[in-house]
Amino acid sequence: MSNIVLYPGTFDPITNGHLDLIERAAKLFDRVIVAVAASAGKNPMFNVEERVQLVKDVVAHNTRIEVCGFSGLLVDLAKEKNANVLLRGLRAVSDFEYEFQLANMNRHLSPDLESLFLTPSEKYSYISSTLVREVASMGGNVTEFVPPQVLTVLDGKFSS
Ligand code: COA
Repeated sequence: MSNIVLYPGTFDPITNGHLDLIERAAKLFDRVIVAVAASAGKNPMFNVEERVQLVKDVVAHNTRIEVCGFSGLLVDLAKEKNANVLLRGLRAVSDFEYEFQLANMNRHLSPDLESLFLTPSEKYSYISSTLVREVASMGGNVTEFVPPQVLTVLDGKFSS
């Protein structure tokens, strides 16, 4: 049986912190599936197709990384994709409580699906997609925090 890990999130947009986690996971698993949630409740700045395309552009160098969009239950997607592990990132203690809730609910819904937590490099421990969007929208420099493909799209969105 190959080990397939599913890494879900809103990725609005993908940051270097997310990419750091994806690359760590690619060293541990046969296949990494990055699952971009529609997350309509978060009122994302980029629609799900744009977010999926951005992640695809960023991970195009690694053929073992797949990217898909989804709008249903995460556990259903995991079943459909034959994933046996869910990956989430822990940046700080403040992430823990929410992640603990998600992991327990997902375990309730799908007892055989294991949640795994990795920490990104500490230089990304304080960034989030929301902060990146806010700083970029006000003309701040986010070069260190997003892949070049994302920087180009943000520049296009907020220039003029
Ligand atoms: N580097 C940088 N930022 C990171 C990060 C990292 N390594 N890890 C998390 N973050 C940030 C994200 O950018 C995001 O920031 P934002 O709120 O400013 O957008 C925040 O931390 C966490 O959001 P994200 O990782 O996108 O997850 P989420 O909380 O939006 O997504 C889902 C949660 C999509 C996984 C969850 O809602 C889900 O599973 N939905 C599907 C429906 C379902 O099954 N629901 C039941 C779940 S029990």
